[in-house]
Amino acid sequence: MTPSHASPVSAIETRDRLIVALDLPSPDAARKLVVELGDTVSFYKIGMELAYGGGLPLASELIAAGKKVFLDLKLHDIPNTVASATAQVANMGATFLTIHAYPQTMKAARGALGTSSLQLLAVTVLTSSDDSDLQDAGYALGVRDLVAKRAGQAKAAGVHGIVLSAEEARAMRSLLGPDMLLVTPGIRPAGAEIGDQKRVMTPARAIAAGANYLVVGRPVTQAPDPKAAASAIVDEIASAL
Ligand code: C5P
Repeated sequence: MTPSHASPVSAIETRDRLIVALDLPSPDAARKLVVELGDTVSFYKIGMELAYGGGLPLASELIAAGKKVFLDLKLHDIPNTVASATAQVANMGATFLTIHAYPQTMKAARGALGTSSLQLLAVTVLTSSDDSDLQDAGYALGVRDLVAKRAGQAKAAGVHGIVLSAEEARAMRSLLGPDMLLVTPGIRPAGAEIGDQKRVMTPARAIAAGANYLVVGRPVTQAPDPKAAASAIVDEIASAL
């Protein structure tokens, strides 16, 4: 089998494979960390908390400063609204945008990309849902089957990748082939605090399982020396490629 890192996505620079989640209370706190991390980190994730707390101008600032930005906004609405929102994010120059993996939503977002370089990542099933949550919400399928179904639908819709737990990376890589991007949170370097994550993997193991990008929050943001922590993760990624 062709290893995932031999796919066309192997052109991704090693440093870009670390995405630091800016899960911080304010744009100023996030800015301070970005300055501290300097050239060690080139890619940042801004989620709903920071986006709704004044973080969208920060996204534009980071892009203007040459950083890559992953807007984790998990869009899902009527197709017209999804398409217009996606077009706005594409205009900002973000690199990744998350959308929920509903076929209608994915097709609307895909159709709104135009010539932009924005890449769409589908959220298949939120990791906070288990089989009984899905049943409560009216789904006939359990988590495993729904994730596989939606991952296939994401590929069919022309979405660029999916967000998933590193534990699912190997199975999804064989299901989806070498070209879909696999972006994995729940990363913990050996010895790091696990916090509220339940299923974690080291950077090296996640890369070996087929992940292309690793989303890391607290092991960098809460580290006594964030720059050294980020640098060690980049080195670990490099050693696993
Ligand atoms: O601090 P930590 O490394 O656990 O942060 C992980 C980041 O990835 C957070 O921004 C979290 O919201 C996000 N995430 C996750 N699990 C998912 C999807 C996103 O931890 N399934």
